[in-house]
Amino acid sequence: MRDARFLSLEGGEGAGKSTQARALAAALAARGIDAVVTREPGGSEGAEAIRALLMQGEATRWSAQSEALLFAAARADHVEKVIRPALAAGQWVLCDRYIDSTRAYQGVAGGVDDAAILALHAFGSGGLLPDRTFWLALPEELGATRAATRDGVAADRFARRGRDFHAAVADAFSRFAAAEPQRFHRIDATLPPEAVTQAMLDALADWLP
Ligand code: TMP
Repeated sequence: MRDARFLSLEGGEGAGKSTQARALAAALAARGIDAVVTREPGGSEGAEAIRALLMQGEATRWSAQSEALLFAAARADHVEKVIRPALAAGQWVLCDRYIDSTRAYQGVAGGVDDAAILALHAFGSGGLLPDRTFWLALPEELGATRAATRDGVAADRFARRGRDFHAAVADAFSRFAAAEPQRFHRIDATLPPEAVTQAMLDALADWLP
């Protein structure tokens, strides 16, 4: 059996991560690779329950510290119940957001120390990191417009935050990509959807049949 791989898709709002996760899974299936598509926060029953707590209500409902704890708890359940079992069964896992979202949103943009976030991740999820992370990069204004068109008045607690917050998130991903060039691949999310999927496939060429 081919080695199972764990991939995450990251980026700001409206970058097309969920669409691209599905498109990439279909492209992998065409190459004989069975991939599970999942998302955070959520992806398991317990984590989806925590997602509802995180996404609904006033922006001030949770502090960045409380959010970091809730995301870590949701992730611990997701890793235990879904991600590790799939990898153990030889399936690839494509996760729409993962630990780098916590490092960007609660860490860089929210002011929580990166070391604290990584310590929670070590405790909750054994520190499991993706083998490769695709950063779907989009100019912040474009992402905000796309997300507003998609979500309308139903925008969640995070999408409703101001420009400075989202600019800090974008800056965070760019810093992570520079710090970990082996794991992070920057993908230009302004390209047409098929070209975005192809760029991810190109970045996986060394693992594909
Ligand atoms: P999404 O499902 O539309 O991507 O929304 C998830 C929101 O939650 C998004 O605004 C980013 C935010 N988020 C965090 O702040 N920290 C995290 O660890 C994760 C996974 C998501």
